[in-house]
Amino acid sequence: MKWAGGKRQLLPELVSRIDRLGGFGTYFEPFFGGGALFFELWGLGRIKSGAVLSDINRRLIDTYRAVAGDVEAVISLLRGHKDKHGKDYYYAVRAVEPRRLDRKAARVIYLNRTCFNGLYRENSKGRFNVPMGRYRNPTICDQDVLRAASKALADVELLAVPFDEALARPKAGDLVYLDPPYVPLSASSSFTAYSKGGFTMDDQVRLAETFRDLDGRGVHVMLSNSRTDAVMEMYQGFNIDMVKASRAVSCKADHRKDVTELIVTNF
Ligand SMILES: C[S@@+](CC[C@H](N)C(=O)[O-])C[C@H]1O[C@@H](n2cnc3c(N)ncnc32)[C@H](O)[C@@H]1O
Repeated sequence: MKWAGGKRQLLPELVSRIDRLGGFGTYFEPFFGGGALFFELWGLGRIKSGAVLSDINRRLIDTYRAVAGDVEAVISLLRGHKDKHGKDYYYAVRAVEPRRLDRKAARVIYLNRTCFNGLYRENSKGRFNVPMGRYRNPTICDQDVLRAASKALADVELLAVPFDEALARPKAGDLVYLDPPYVPLSASSSFTAYSKGGFTMDDQVRLAETFRDLDGRGVHVMLSNSRTDAVMEMYQGFNIDMVKASRAVSCKADHRKDVTELIVTNF
């Protein structure tokens, strides 16, 4: 999935910190999104004692469930979307949510690959409402990637729950990676509409409290967020590192700039 705030750019920084641990129990990722770090760790053979992957976005979690359960069905439906792709077809698919899990998943992946900037946004009624993007030749059905994802997801737990619910579970020695919607750098740059309701400053504060609570339970915790005074204050007392990430600043993939972000760990 293309996902706003995807962590591909930060992967070497995140993985090198995890490798300092020399091993961990169950892996928890409660703001899963595109799951860049999980898929990387899985590929490196670092996930050895299971994983619990969750996100508040039910359509996203249902998509992963379908890919885990019957990837061939999803691939064949996606091929159908690919053959019919066009403006009228995009808006027709966007308008109707199917009931069957494999059809739901193929629809979400098709819309994700062809919509404007790969954004996920819902209107007030919870309907996906991103317009079609202007890609000449979007990759709609990457069979190899889908089959690899299906293998990676075969033995994990996938839950559509808010972060606090997912974080009651981790025990001493487990690893939690937190990648919440970022604290905005300025009021105007705020993009927090990942789901109906968005992620507020109160949620950020609750998350920081949860971080402290997990730390007290002996869980290894790592968080990424924006380089803002608010984040520095909330995580005082933990290791806070500044790292450079190259981020897309417009719809063109080559318009990127280096921004500094924060990685907080308790290890
Ligand atoms: C920055 S993105 C994660 C990106 C991901 N690390 C990646 O590599 O693609 C944040 C995610 O948090 C989810 N989210 C927002 N509010 C949430 C909440 N209260 N509980 C759990 N997940 C939430 C959004 O649906 C979104 O997928």
